[in-house]
Amino acid sequence: MRKQIAAANWKMNLTLPQAEQLVKELLATSYQLDENRRVVLGVPFPYLTAIGSRLDQTKYFDVAAQNCADKKSGAFTGETSVEMLKSIQVPYVIIGHSERREYFNETHAMLATKVDLALEYGLQPIFCCGEPLAIREAGTQNSFVETQLKESLFHLSAEQVQGFIIAYEPIWAIGTGKTASSNQAQEMHAHIRKVITGQYGKEVSDSVSILYGGSVKASNASELFEKPDVDGGLVGGASLVATEFSAIINALKKP
Ligand code: PGA
Repeated sequence: MRKQIAAANWKMNLTLPQAEQLVKELLATSYQLDENRRVVLGVPFPYLTAIGSRLDQTKYFDVAAQNCADKKSGAFTGETSVEMLKSIQVPYVIIGHSERREYFNETHAMLATKVDLALEYGLQPIFCCGEPLAIREAGTQNSFVETQLKESLFHLSAEQVQGFIIAYEPIWAIGTGKTASSNQAQEMHAHIRKVITGQYGKEVSDSVSILYGGSVKASNASELFEKPDVDGGLVGGASLVATEFSAIINALKKP
C-alpha cells in the first residue's frame, strides 16, 4: 500500500512557543498511525531542530522544511541548502509550493534542480503542483499540471519516482475556504497517476502518494481522503489548530 500522509504547512506563522504548544496538543491525541500512515509537519526553518527533537519520541511524526535552495552551497545570503537540512536530520522538503512559484519566481527548471538536490542528499521531496483559477475556468487544468510534472520531475529515473510524494493544490482553493470537491480532486489525482503511469509504468505510479491541498479541514478531510487516488492532504490554515489537524490525521484511510 502506498503511504497515506497528513502533511502540515505552517507557512510563515507561529512563534516558537506557539509552535511548541501546538505540537504538545497534537501529541496529546491518539492516532492510528503506522509505517504507511504518517504525519509530516512543514515548519519554518528556525524551528526545524526544536520541533524535530520533540518528535523524536514519536515513531510516525516527522518534520519537513518548506523550501530549500537550488544551489549546493556558497555565497547565497539567506538561503538554506539541502545539505544543511540533511545535517540536522530533516527527512522531507516541500518543493514548488504555488506561493514560492508566484512570489519568488521559482521556475520549472529551478524546481527540477531542487528535486535533484533533495534526492542526492536523501531527503524526500513533497512536490507541489496545481493550476490557477483562470486555467481551471478555461478547462485546461490537466495539461497545465502535466507540464509542471514533466518539466520538473520526468527527468528522474523510475527508481527515484518510486514512493515519491506529490501534492496537488489548485491555487484557487488555497487559503480561500473554497475546497475542490472530492470528485474534482479525484479526477485530477487520477489524471496525475495516469501521466506517471505513461512515463514510468503502473507499478511506480501505484507507489506514488498524491496528497490534496487547498482548504482541507476537519469537516471535509474524510470525504476527500476516501477517494481512491487521494492519499492524504497538505494542510495550511487548519494545520495551525490542534483539534482541526488531529481530526485530519484521523481521517487518513485505514488499511
Ligand atoms: P490551506 O493551504 O490549507 O490554508 O488552503 C494549503 C497549502 O497552501 O498548502
